[in-house]
Amino acid sequence: MFSRYKKDDAKPKLVEVQKNEPAAAVAAAKPAPAPEKEAKTAARAVPMDKERKRKERLGEVKAELHKRLLDDLNLAALDNASEGDLRSEISAIAGEALEDMSIVLNRDERATLNQELFDEVTGLGPLEPLLKDDTVNDILVNGPKQVFIERDGNLELTDTQFKDERHLLRIIDKIVSAVGRRVDESNPYVDARLQDGSRFNAMVSPIAVDGSLVSIRKFKKEKLAIDDLVNFGAFTEEMAAYLQAAVSTRLNIIVSGGTGSGKTTALNALSSFIDNNERILTIEDTAELQLQQTHVGRMESRPPNVEGKGAVSQRDCLKNALRMRPDRIIVGETRGEEVIDMLQAMNTGHDGSMTTIHANSARDSVSRLENMIAMAGIEMPLKAVRSQISSAVNLVVQVSRLQDGSRRMTSITEITGMEGEIISMQEMFRYQRVGLTPENKIIGHFTATGVRSHYSERFRMWGYDLPASIFEPFEGN
Ligand SMILES: Nc1ncnc2c1ncn2[C@@H]1O[C@H](COP(=O)(O)OP(=O)(O)OP(=O)(O)O)[C@@H](O)[C@H]1O
Ligand SMILES: [Mg+2]
Repeated sequence: MFSRYKKDDAKPKLVEVQKNEPAAAVAAAKPAPAPEKEAKTAARAVPMDKERKRKERLGEVKAELHKRLLDDLNLAALDNASEGDLRSEISAIAGEALEDMSIVLNRDERATLNQELFDEVTGLGPLEPLLKDDTVNDILVNGPKQVFIERDGNLELTDTQFKDERHLLRIIDKIVSAVGRRVDESNPYVDARLQDGSRFNAMVSPIAVDGSLVSIRKFKKEKLAIDDLVNFGAFTEEMAAYLQAAVSTRLNIIVSGGTGSGKTTALNALSSFIDNNERILTIEDTAELQLQQTHVGRMESRPPNVEGKGAVSQRDCLKNALRMRPDRIIVGETRGEEVIDMLQAMNTGHDGSMTTIHANSARDSVSRLENMIAMAGIEMPLKAVRSQISSAVNLVVQVSRLQDGSRRMTSITEITGMEGEIISMQEMFRYQRVGLTPENKIIGHFTATGVRSHYSERFRMWGYDLPASIFEPFEGN
């Protein structure tokens, strides 16, 4: 059975290759080599709760089988194996091993064990069920024994665990080596993209103090569309109508927000208002955007390889993009020196461009832009920097993850020009918090501020005659 996907040099029977293996379950099948584990074997154990003992033993069997499968299976041959073949092969190996260890499992336990072994061999082990669960947004691993998920905006501790740090490291290694990267003591953190498109970051010892840290932003095949976001209460239909006018009339837009606040989701949704005839180029560190238009060129920056060579930065992509006749450029997140080229692009004929930025308010996002320009080593008087920003950026859309886990567009602000040295802005819409329910849900409502849009003439000229009622302050829920 085993032969087809087994390494040539793999030994045929579990019990024969256990020599240096500490797992107690295997030890039970044959006199134990590791003395500290000997005390744990079933025969010598002091009387203990039967169920607990069984669970412990099962855990050890699993760990041993996981390791054995990875050691013995010819992983290269697995690429061509059909899922059915592989499943029956794994189930046969497991059956054989369980028999050797004189362990009887019920049908459910067998099915779970087989699935876990399958996940371990073909996928990312204990993370696999969480990756398959569409209700999970983020997976956050703090060392081998603590895995959190984010679901509906709230963090939950799961009972998912890795056997130990080595097990966790093996999974991390599997992910990063698949994309030609390495993570170790001298190179302790890494970004990668999983096969399903999810964004992956890992940091290992010694920088991660209590075990490796892993963060995964799950890739959503079905991105939230404007209608979904309106239904979820992320913003109102009136705000959507205003945003449609803003995108269609080619205002340059910055989506600002904290980490995980929904920036990429909002950017993706806004992009749906772009006309299908336009040529759009997207630039991201990890390709997450999913534009619906036909004419889209996607670029993904690349970190240096293990020799420190071959890096292609977002700025490189952006410079090149300007030679590729784009109608619009979308930069997934502006966080460094590419800010210069982004502002230049916005100022010089690629209006209608968009990006996101980490900031807590519209005013703050402008300060972040100023800081990024300063950090990029551009020596320009502050007034000139500000005037460059104010003429490049037309609109700042602020998104936030509120304390009850809900994600909302908390403010839409127009940039209207300069007053002396200060960039002038006017808020058009905002989320007004009123209170908190006993269940800690936020009570609030969206409202317009009653200000006339700086771009109303532009909207009208382009055929977006927004009704005045959109801009009237709204009170109530
Ligand atoms: N309005 C919303 N309602 C419900 N879920 C949302 C909403 N907006 C975003 N999400 C979900 O929240 C998660 C984080 O969203 P997103 O990736 O857009 O955040 P981000 O601000 O770009 O994060 P990061 O700072 O890590 O890049 C995603 O799983 C997304 O599907
Ligand atoms: Mg993002």
